[in-house]
Amino acid sequence: MKKALITGVTGQDGGYLAKLLLDKGYDVTGAIRRNSQIETVRLQKLGIADAVRLVDFDLSEINNINRLIRETAFDEVYNLAAQSFVGSSWDQPIYTGDVNGLGVVRVLDAIRTYSPQTRFYQASTSEMFGLVRAVPQNEETPFHPRSPYGVAKVYGHYITVNYRESFGLHASSGILFNHESPLRGPEFVTRKITLGLARFARGDRAAVELGNLDAKRDWGFAGDYVEGMWRMLQQDAADDYVLATGVTTPIRDFVTYAAAAIGLELEWSGSAETEQAIDRKSGKVAIRVNPRFYRPAEVDLLIGDATKARTRLGWEPRMAIRELAELMATSDYDDWRG
Ligand code: NAP
Ligand code: GDD
Repeated sequence: MKKALITGVTGQDGGYLAKLLLDKGYDVTGAIRRNSQIETVRLQKLGIADAVRLVDFDLSEINNINRLIRETAFDEVYNLAAQSFVGSSWDQPIYTGDVNGLGVVRVLDAIRTYSPQTRFYQASTSEMFGLVRAVPQNEETPFHPRSPYGVAKVYGHYITVNYRESFGLHASSGILFNHESPLRGPEFVTRKITLGLARFARGDRAAVELGNLDAKRDWGFAGDYVEGMWRMLQQDAADDYVLATGVTTPIRDFVTYAAAAIGLELEWSGSAETEQAIDRKSGKVAIRVNPRFYRPAEVDLLIGDATKARTRLGWEPRMAIRELAELMATSDYDDWRG
């Protein structure tokens, strides 16, 4: 039975990955931060809360990392933990740099020192491309991060490459484009939209306030992306891979798809800060722009080229954007409790 460690197991990807590995017969250890209350809602929703062994862990604390890696000879370590919300990274740039950047080398160095046979996955991101230098983006596209989050992730990416090249570790970096699900955190735009529209459609007619509606993202389903992470660690040699759908969609279109899935028909008008969408049936404003949600520097366009993952890993994203929006919107509509 293979032993795997997942950092960030309480997050969206951590939950889906834990489920995938358990289904494959792994012994799964989930690393969680000490909180006033243990928060395993996602693991419960996936029906695996009792199957994952939970251990106390923080990426900013070298001692618990060393102890954990020394005591258990993990076959695979998936480093998914991070301060993952781009918007917060301008308010917490030092913390974000410490956890998302230095946290990676803490884990890598523990592996090098105590368990060099352990295979390592780093959760890198399309946010590293930032102000994109090529369209679409692939493993060769230069980075130009636009947020403290993206800057820290570039460090995490290159230190993974460096430990592979310096010490021969089986360390891979997955450059993943946005992936969503009904388990997505409520602060990210897709879930904010589906939660807000569900509330609106259920009768609480408060408008959902959003920032930049013109930004475009390459969105896939999180369940498909964790399969790609696992495939990376099954290769003979470690490497870096882009996972993406190759389709990009403006935020505005995601709103329209999600609204339609729960019976709302929106009529858009205005532009920039005056743009809004009215629900035809009720005549109420369902979406409006609030500049409070604009970012100091924006990533306008992301679209990935996952040819390498397709050809070498046999990986394919299975869910298209409309289906994803529908899945998330109907899930929030059905779960709405008022
Ligand atoms: P998420 O839902 O926000 O989960 C983040 C996880 O990290 C949570 O379990 C969180 O614990 C944990 N964490 C945060 N700070 C920590 C610390 N200091 N020490 C230990 N654990 C800590 O994120 P996600 O969407 O699953 O993303 C997983 C990873 O992939 C992240 O590294 C993210 O940056 C990266 N990524 C995500 C996407 C995407 O579209 N989802 C795309 C590219 C890359 P709590 O539950 O205690 O907060
Ligand atoms: N969160 C949020 N809230 N974003 C908004 C809003 C809003 O009200 N209105 C517009 N947006 C725009 C943001 O400006 C951004 O251009 C886009 O929606 C997506 O924002 P998020 O959903 O917060 O995701 P992200 O792309 O910044 O970051 C996510 O994807 C990265 C991969 O590219 C996160 O999961 C990161 O951890 C991940 O690395």
